[in-house]
Amino acid sequence: MTEVPLPVRTERLVLRRFTPDDLDDLHAYQGLPEVARFLYRPPLTREQCVQSLARRAAGTAWAEDDDDLVVAVCPIGEERVVGEVVLKLASARARQAEIGWVFHPAYGGRGYATEAASATASLAFADLGVHRLFARLDVLNTGSVRVCERLGMRREAHLVENDLDGGRWGSEYVYAALAREWKAGRAQ
Ligand SMILES: CC(C)(COP(=O)(O)OP(=O)(O)OC[C@H]1O[C@@H](n2cnc3c(N)ncnc32)[C@H](O)[C@@H]1OP(=O)(O)O)[C@@H](O)C(=O)NCCC(=O)NCCS
Repeated sequence: MTEVPLPVRTERLVLRRFTPDDLDDLHAYQGLPEVARFLYRPPLTREQCVQSLARRAAGTAWAEDDDDLVVAVCPIGEERVVGEVVLKLASARARQAEIGWVFHPAYGGRGYATEAASATASLAFADLGVHRLFARLDVLNTGSVRVCERLGMRREAHLVENDLDGGRWGSEYVYAALAREWKAGRAQ
């Protein structure tokens, strides 16, 4: 199993593992309908957040397809989790990983999601050996599109009505970056 080197400190944030003590903070954003709007599932109940934290406390494997790492994001100097970045191993054989992000709207518009996603992408490429990192997002999710573009990811696909979101056909973009592209981008 690959060791995941957390916590990570960025200019304004600490990225660390979740603990059961994060329940109130987690539910404060995962329970909001506006946050779940483009996640193709309902907001999480408090009980679902309890279960999710229990799973994470049991340890994070990063070895097999579908293993995931969920990183809690805390502004430096604030003892609270304001969002998360998720890294999922889509194919261990081909070293493909999917990245996603969910933040409390009260902490939006400050660049925290981009800063945390950038640090997580660096961790994925440099420490976890990821070859290609991709994100899938609803085309209407303009905030998330801008995060991908600020990260320098490439828009690779526009899937048309490839999913059903309640009664609405959802269309998605796929954005991606390769390890060598990421390295070259950071070097500039
Ligand atoms: C997607 C999501 C994380 C985007 O949040 P966000 O606040 O727009 O993204 P960031 O935290 O990176 O902030 C970027 C904004 O902060 C601004 N900003 C302000 N101060 C800044 C600073 N010091 N540094 C960087 N950016 C700053 C940027 O200009 C940018 O604004 P813009 O997009 O209007 O140009 C958020 O909307 C969310 O959690 N949504 C719900 C869950 C979801 O849909 N997840 C994605 C599923 S695919």
